[in-house]
Amino acid sequence: MTAGTDPFTGRTAVVTGAGSGIGAALARELAGRGCRLVLADISSVALEAIEKELRESGADAVGILTDVSDPADVENLAAGAERRFGAVHIVCNNAGILATGPLIETPIETARGVMDVNFWGVFHGIRTFAPRLIRQGQGGHIVNSASLTGLQGVGELGIYSASKFAVVGISEALHQELKPLGIGVSVLCPMVVETQIADHASHRRGESAGEVVDQAPRLRQSAIKTPEHVAAQVARAILARKFYILTHEEERGILRDRADRLERACDWLDETALKPRAEGA
Ligand SMILES: NC(=O)c1ccc[n+]([C@@H]2O[C@H](COP(=O)([O-])OP(=O)(O)OC[C@H]3O[C@@H](n4cnc5c(N)ncnc54)[C@H](O)[C@@H]3O)[C@@H](O)[C@H]2O)c1
Repeated sequence: MTAGTDPFTGRTAVVTGAGSGIGAALARELAGRGCRLVLADISSVALEAIEKELRESGADAVGILTDVSDPADVENLAAGAERRFGAVHIVCNNAGILATGPLIETPIETARGVMDVNFWGVFHGIRTFAPRLIRQGQGGHIVNSASLTGLQGVGELGIYSASKFAVVGISEALHQELKPLGIGVSVLCPMVVETQIADHASHRRGESAGEVVDQAPRLRQSAIKTPEHVAAQVARAILARKFYILTHEEERGILRDRADRLERACDWLDETALKPRAEGA
């Protein structure tokens, strides 16, 4: 895509986790900007509802039942998108699940389940769609959903944080690799957004969504944004080719504190202590 070209009108966008929350808002935002939509979700009920809503609003949309943790399903999603629309230009690897509770009490199957969707789901999306975008030679943009917890670890959200750090890491690498090829990459890192994620979460000790937020005091300080606010930020970032997509002003202080702490760790380095001892000393 050349600078100044409309990245949305008549282009095809794939959104995973499109049945709810941020994914549904992204689908509406992109459809509103003239994209054709390929909607993916593991929930057939949620998928049918968003497909119906978008079609009734006049959008060209198709839903494809997909479990993003299964590479064969993601391949099927790409094949279905190409059959229907010929090409894909925007890919939002958005599907994700939450798990809460003390890290040391996290069951292995819970940890694997979170990594399967949040990390492997994004990885499968990248491996399946990025080569197609490159082959098409029409530019495009990949948006990976991480979280502020992918930039700052948060107690009681340990495995979730780990999965989101992994998404930030592969997104930073992908951005470097695809930039010379004219394909944009963004990583979405919101604080708390008003969605169903806590209801879909795997809780320890039967905690409620409210308690999840209470356990992470700095997250609690965040204003709760709407999915629509987040989706609008994503569209702006695609237009402006911004890599990091932050959504809450409160993120500024948290990220500055982290950068300061890391920088101060460099001050603490003692070069003389690291020098090899002189022979015989
Ligand atoms: N809500 C927040 O506060 C918040 C904050 C930061 C980041 N995020 C991230 O935003 C993304 C969207 O979350 P949300 O808040 O809209 O959640 P949500 O639970 O409202 O929506 C997620 C959707 O993904 C679908 N999904 C779950 N597992 C799937 C799978 N294996 N394959 C395909 N679809 C699957 C669900 O059925 C659901 O429709 C996630 O990656 C989440 O981690 C959310």
